Amino acid sequence: MPTVLIIGAGLNTGKAAAETFSAAGYQVAVASRTQKLDSKYRYYAFDASKPETVPTLFEKVTTDLGAPSVVIYITAAGHVSPPENPFDTELDGFQKGLNINTISPYYAAREAVKSFEKLGPSGLGPSGGSFLFVGNGLNTTAIPGFMTFAVQKGATAHMIQNLALVEYDGKPYKFYYLDERHADGSYVTTDLSGAGHAAEFIKLAKDSKQGPWDYTFVSGKGYEKFPYVEVMAWNP
Ligand SMILES: NC(=O)c1ccc[n+]([C@@H]2O[C@H](COP(=O)([O-])OP(=O)(O)OC[C@H]3O[C@@H](n4cnc5c(N)ncnc54)[C@H](OP(=O)(O)O)[C@@H]3O)[C@@H](O)[C@H]2O)c1
Repeated sequence: MPTVLIIGAGLNTGKAAAETFSAAGYQVAVASRTQKLDSKYRYYAFDASKPETVPTLFEKVTTDLGAPSVVIYITAAGHVSPPENPFDTELDGFQKGLNINTISPYYAAREAVKSFEKLGPSGLGPSGGSFLFVGNGLNTTAIPGFMTFAVQKGATAHMIQNLALVEYDGKPYKFYYLDERHADGSYVTTDLSGAGHAAEFIKLAKDSKQGPWDYTFVSGKGYEKFPYVEVMAWNP
């Protein structure tokens, strides 16, 4: 049975992903600071603000369930600054956000690739390996108050771009930055669809080919490319 590791498995996206992958025959490992999901999913206590603990998380999952062929990173920490003071975050706050939104994803992607290599073509099967990161539109658009969050999500988007297009081009490994939008291209906020994400996760995990790494999608419809927006007022 293949294994999926869901990092930041909460009641929205994580729960929907756990249910979807379990129904598709995966063993499901879920990680977060506190256990949120049913104990039928193997739970691992994990704090993404401590990137140095990422390899241990993968070691434990691999020992218990087998090396994951799908890794989903949902955890995020978003800081909002007053528009008149974009530098309100002190160094420790900026570093904590960087740890959660950028450095732990870096280590998780590194460990995911090690896991894919361990599994090899026979262990991965025709779908190959997948690293799926839940992002938002801040990798392309400047929004007042969101500078530090944009820096952190944006850095991870660059990592995904590199991994998908350059570093593992030609390997059966896929890397995605998922960014859910409304049908008109505007941003989702608290209406983020867990079920919509789960449907895209399993589709991307099962597809043997790398698709567009900057995966803007509409829930229930799939990938849609939207016009590039450089600056946006925040008016959810
Ligand atoms: N497309 C968009 O525009 C858009 C809009 C909104 C949100 N998003 C993205 O959606 C994601 C959130 O998805 P969701 O609705 O599924 O969230 P959710 O239901 O709140 O689940 C996220 C889980 O992450 C865990 N978590 C938080 N901090 C953590 C940490 N330091 N270490 C480990 N786990 C941690 C939390 O559990 P514990 O507290 O127990 O750790 C929580 O249950 C984020 O990546 C966010 O940026 C995107």
